[in-house]
Amino acid sequence: MIKIAPSILSADFSKLGEEVQRAERGGADLIHVDVMDGHFVPNITIGPLVTKAIAPLVTIPMDIHLMIENPRLYIKDFVESIDVGRDISKDCVSVHVETCSHLHRVLKEIKEYGVRPGVAFNPGTPLEHLRYLLDDIELVIIMTVNPGFGGQSFIEGMIPKIKRAREIVGDKNIEILVDGGVTVANANKIVDAGATILVAGSAVFNEKDSIENNIKKIREAVMK
Ligand code: DX5
Ligand code: ZN
Repeated sequence: MIKIAPSILSADFSKLGEEVQRAERGGADLIHVDVMDGHFVPNITIGPLVTKAIAPLVTIPMDIHLMIENPRLYIKDFVESIDVGRDISKDCVSVHVETCSHLHRVLKEIKEYGVRPGVAFNPGTPLEHLRYLLDDIELVIIMTVNPGFGGQSFIEGMIPKIKRAREIVGDKNIEILVDGGVTVANANKIVDAGATILVAGSAVFNEKDSIENNIKKIREAVMK
């Protein structure tokens, strides 16, 4: 079954706790957290104080997407922030391939902290690294917008890249997350290309309908 990971980047931060709980009630499978540092991407967002505040409010896994330079400096802080009396073994922490010179070391470290390691690729970054990382990751994030902001349009040219990721991953137990510009209208096509987890920010939190209904609409779109 395809999983849906609402990105809280588009949530109403004045009532974030309530919003993540509504996402879980609406059938979200993970809570996607976009961490941005103002260097790797031109925006600054969420630190461990925020993940610490919301982690105890949900029972579904946290999916932490680090869009920061030197991610190794902060992995421990983020894992500790969500390790608040819950099972962290299903939580995910992903780093960008563009930010790490020693990817294996960083991915191994993420695993040693007891969470699931992932690697993310910007739209312009070739997938070539992926084949060498298959034993070290449990998820791969294919960015379908240039990271930094919610509400951008899906880059159509990424469909073949998702298909290629599917081929490289083969039958290994690695989730393929597609992140950026996912909507009710394109969700089915993205799943057909090989995605197993859809990240959706504005399609969940900024559409006119309720958070719960927006998640249901995406789920219905991929079940057709
Ligand atoms: C982009 C982030 C995405 C983004 C998705 O930098 O990594 O997770 O918030 O938002 P939408 O679904 O609005 O493109
Ligand atoms: Zn993201």
